[in-house]
Amino acid sequence: MRRTVVTAFFGLSILSGLGVLAQTSDPITQRQNLMKNNQEQMRTLTGMARGQAPFNAATAQAAFQRVAQNAQQIPALFPAGSTQGKTAALPTIWERKADFDAHATKLEQDAKAAQGAITDQASLQAAIQRVGQNCGGCHETYRRKES
Ligand code: HEC
Repeated sequence: MRRTVVTAFFGLSILSGLGVLAQTSDPITQRQNLMKNNQEQMRTLTGMARGQAPFNAATAQAAFQRVAQNAQQIPALFPAGSTQGKTAALPTIWERKADFDAHATKLEQDAKAAQGAITDQASLQAAIQRVGQNCGGCHETYRRKES
């Protein structure tokens, strides 16, 4: 009887432990997935600006909106100490967290402004450049260069 109770208890703790893992509470994975989504949005936008896909203002606005929403989440996905594991985040982020967060806010603002500025392929191209500068600007300082 006693043995059954103990076994059941351990069984439950293992299960709840797995549940935590499955939720991907790991901020490194979360932010990398978010960044991959950023890249997807930019790819959609660039394809349209190059005429590889027909221009569609609503689709472009939705893509910029997603980039803005993603940007809003960036500061929280870089909690202090989230440097363990496979990450390209540089320690400089936590030495200058306010500046890092400001880069995220700037991206959010520019992506929001872009939504209202797109009327055709040319204005889309300009908007991509303005928004895209934020990606490279932050990576330049805060992301490890691929070697
Ligand atoms: C506020 C700073 C900041 C901004 C703005 C930013 N990034 Fe990042 N990005 C990072 C950091 C830091 C990493 C490394 C994250 C890690 O490995 O933990 C990263 C990683 C990435 C990655 C690699 C993800 C992976 O698979 O590991 C891609 C792709 C990416 N960013 C695309 C973008 C695009 C596109 C934009 C603009 C729409 C953007 N980022 C804006 C800081 C930023």
